[in-house]
Amino acid sequence: MAVKPNILVTRRWPAVVEQKLAETYNVELNRSDRPLSPSDFREAIGRFDAVLPTVTDKIGPEALDVPRAQTKILANYGVGFNHIDVDTAARRGIAITNTPDVLSECTADLAMTLMLMVARRAGDGERELRAGNWTGWRPTHLVGTKVSGKTLGIIGFGRIGQQMARRAHFGFGMDIVVYNRSAVDPAVLAQYNARQVDTIETLLPQCDFVSLHCPGGAENRNMINSARLDLMKEDAFLINTARGEVVNESALAQALMFDTIGGAALDVFEAEPRINPMLAQCDNLVMLPHLGSATREAREAMGFRVLDNLNDFFEGAAPRDLVA
Ligand code: DGY
Repeated sequence: MAVKPNILVTRRWPAVVEQKLAETYNVELNRSDRPLSPSDFREAIGRFDAVLPTVTDKIGPEALDVPRAQTKILANYGVGFNHIDVDTAARRGIAITNTPDVLSECTADLAMTLMLMVARRAGDGERELRAGNWTGWRPTHLVGTKVSGKTLGIIGFGRIGQQMARRAHFGFGMDIVVYNRSAVDPAVLAQYNARQVDTIETLLPQCDFVSLHCPGGAENRNMINSARLDLMKEDAFLINTARGEVVNESALAQALMFDTIGGAALDVFEAEPRINPMLAQCDNLVMLPHLGSATREAREAMGFRVLDNLNDFFEGAAPRDLVA
């Protein structure tokens, strides 16, 4: 690269990656770590050769409404890119990349964490203990649900869904049922002794646990609605580490309040960081603040993956993670 491209990193990143970026590019860092507004974003698109956004940047038509865009690439830090208006970006000739693979294991680990927490009432137990209300061991105290050997339904069988299947099948002897919009290679299903069904309606009534691993976006918005929650067993659990919008939160809160399902565990929310107040009232619900990829290893690897994509792009090669 003869001239160092100007790039904007919209949030704080792991220090080692920020340092590495600064060696190759003219980097502007967001030291305050405050999310950008649409007008900050428009200004950035007019000024920087590359913008490196993440899930907290809502990049809709308003943010991209810049007559003379300088930005040629939005190199997203994260695998999901439903926060970016891909069509408008494409019309403006702006490429988009993401960071798949490097966070799949950690996100599946967190989905397992949530599944175990909700089934074994770990949140209830921790709250009780910290409040000083534990009166000691007794046979009927905080009795949960056994996970090993149960049936797990996985909706979305991409990289993260498959990592979830690996953990559940080999670690917990679970039977795996899969719904995926396209046919999964039988050799992949065979690795986990999994079977694919054609509809979500077929999957839900068979499962003790249902874990969501599909993308967000218009196509999957409110995929889990009250009609589908009604199809779940009354002691089954729903786990969501995908995107908040995939679940209709009011319908879920109703199902939890009226005990039509056993419980739920959520890492992602429709309007995060705001939490639907109805959800906050549900005791049979575990909630975490979007921690799926939050390990040092994954977060650094995500940053280096963005760097690889940028390097390819500015050297004139096709970035490996080009999504649009
Ligand atoms: C993603 O990568 O899309 C996550 O939600 C943040 O890790």
